[in-house]
Amino acid sequence: MIAIGCDHGAFELKLEIIKHLQNRGFEVKDMGCNDTNSCDYPIYAKAVADEVASGNAELGILVCGTGIGMSMAANKVEGIRAALCADCFSAQATREHNNANILCMGARTTGVGLALMIVDRFVDTPFSNDERHIRRINMYS
Ligand code: RB5
Repeated sequence: MIAIGCDHGAFELKLEIIKHLQNRGFEVKDMGCNDTNSCDYPIYAKAVADEVASGNAELGILVCGTGIGMSMAANKVEGIRAALCADCFSAQATREHNNANILCMGARTTGVGLALMIVDRFVDTPFSNDERHIRRINMYS
C-alpha cells in the first residue's frame, strides 16, 4: 500500500497521482487534505510518515507547493527517509542508494506529466541492498 498526502497547494496533483497509481493497480491510502482550503502541511506529512514508519504503508508520497516543507516535516519522524525529487534520475537514485521511503514533490515546481514519471520511477525502483549504502544509511542517526 502507498500512503499519500498533500496540502492545499498540491491537492489537484495528489488526485492525479492517486488516479495514476490506482490505474496501475496499486492500493493507495489518501491521508488528506481533502480540498484546496488553506491548511498546515505538517499535519499531513506526519500522517503519511506515521503510516510508513509503522509499516502500514510500504511507501509514501507527499506533495505541497514546493515539496520542501513536506520533506522537512516527514524527516522528523524516526525511520523516515523522505526525498524531495524533481527529476527521474534522483527518484531512482534515492531508492537505490538511500532506500528513500517517502517521495516528496512540489506542485508549483513540477508539472503533472513529469511528476507522474517521477512517481513511476520511485515506486518501480527497489533498494540496491548494497553493503556500502546500508552502512551509510545506518549512519543517518
Ligand atoms: C503553502 O503556501 C506552502 O508553503 C507549502 O505548500 C509548501 O510549499 C511548503 O513547503
